[in-house]
Amino acid sequence: MALEYLKLDESNSIRISAEDLHKQVSAILQGVGTPQDHAEITAKILVSASLRGVDTHGVGNAVRYSVSIEDGTYTIPQTVEVISETETTALLSCGNGLGFVAAHQGMEMSIAKAREFGLGMATIRDGHHIGMVGYYPMMATQNDMIGMAMTNANQAVRPALGARPRVGTNPIAFGAPSGDERDFILDMATSTVASGKIGLARRLGVEIPEGWAVTGEGEPVTDPPADRGDHWSQNPLGGSREQGSHKGYGLGVMVDILCGVLSGGGVGTQLAGGENMSWTMAIDIARFRDVDDFKSMMDDMIRELHETPPLPGEKAVLVAGDPEADFEDDRSANGVPVENGQYDEMRLRAADLGVEVFI
Ligand SMILES: NC(=O)c1ccc[n+]([C@@H]2O[C@H](COP(=O)([O-])OP(=O)(O)OC[C@H]3O[C@@H](n4cnc5c(N)ncnc54)[C@H](O)[C@@H]3O)[C@@H](O)[C@H]2O)c1
Repeated sequence: MALEYLKLDESNSIRISAEDLHKQVSAILQGVGTPQDHAEITAKILVSASLRGVDTHGVGNAVRYSVSIEDGTYTIPQTVEVISETETTALLSCGNGLGFVAAHQGMEMSIAKAREFGLGMATIRDGHHIGMVGYYPMMATQNDMIGMAMTNANQAVRPALGARPRVGTNPIAFGAPSGDERDFILDMATSTVASGKIGLARRLGVEIPEGWAVTGEGEPVTDPPADRGDHWSQNPLGGSREQGSHKGYGLGVMVDILCGVLSGGGVGTQLAGGENMSWTMAIDIARFRDVDDFKSMMDDMIRELHETPPLPGEKAVLVAGDPEADFEDDRSANGVPVENGQYDEMRLRAADLGVEVFI
């Protein structure tokens, strides 16, 4: 969820329908040679992020992926190769192409394996950005399964007690289906925030709060930096040792192990900017208990959590996925706000590529 002052509103964005955004993203990607089916998968995931208020990982990124394709950083058309496979596991190569395509296939394979054998898991190397990681567990919840996905990245976050970046912002996403209540979708960087929020703050010209980042001397960084390097790091989740930064740091390394070490694709200290290895898993609930009973217990738990009295000054207690579901309700009905600069950039890029301008 965007912090209050990192919100897109009429002053900094323009609302466009999800349908038009989907067409525009797909057209831009196809304009640089992405096969239609891969462009459609990528557009679907980017539009889902924008609908769910995860603007940092939404449609505004389409132009930079198209540039990475054009300059050869991404290999297009890509072949997602199954390097090895068992009933319950798969090692995939993303083929150095769009990360979305391989992560989507990894979760599809995880779901198919879980349907047949109860559990399915894929680890993916030679990959790039997979966007809002919560998308992939949602594929599992829609199939009455528990889903999990992770992705790593090059070093941006310092280890607890460390003075230099060594770990990526390495997000973890977990989803479980409920009945009448909204599904539980936890989707979180293992740093205090995703790097994208620091980039968004820079574009909107606002400071970042103390606790997100520090200099190599441990001084807080509040002016969002434009570059990466040893002179500053994001803080691991928790921020300081007293507030539990060792736990965020440990979770970040866990992500590196499942995505980077298990696949052989590399960890934070070894990856170049833009390289991301990923991991997906699905668990078939029906192998453990009746699915309706599971969902009904989920509903009871979520209701009890919602009924917790809020602290003075707070409106309500939420569960993971609530803020994004609220965004989705609003944006499905009223359109998706796109940052003014990104709107102009997308239109220009479409025109330059000679593809239809839909927005
Ligand atoms: N692909 C990548 O390389 C990469 C790297 C880092 C992050 N990301 C993505 O960035 C996005 C943002 O990550 P973030 O860590 O800044 O997310 P965030 O802090 O906005 O939200 C984290 C989680 O907390 C939940 N949440 C928010 N407020 C809550 C409340 N009051 N009570 C209960 N739950 C609440 C949200 O539903 C979400 O599941 C995610 O989609 C993540 O996948 C991607």
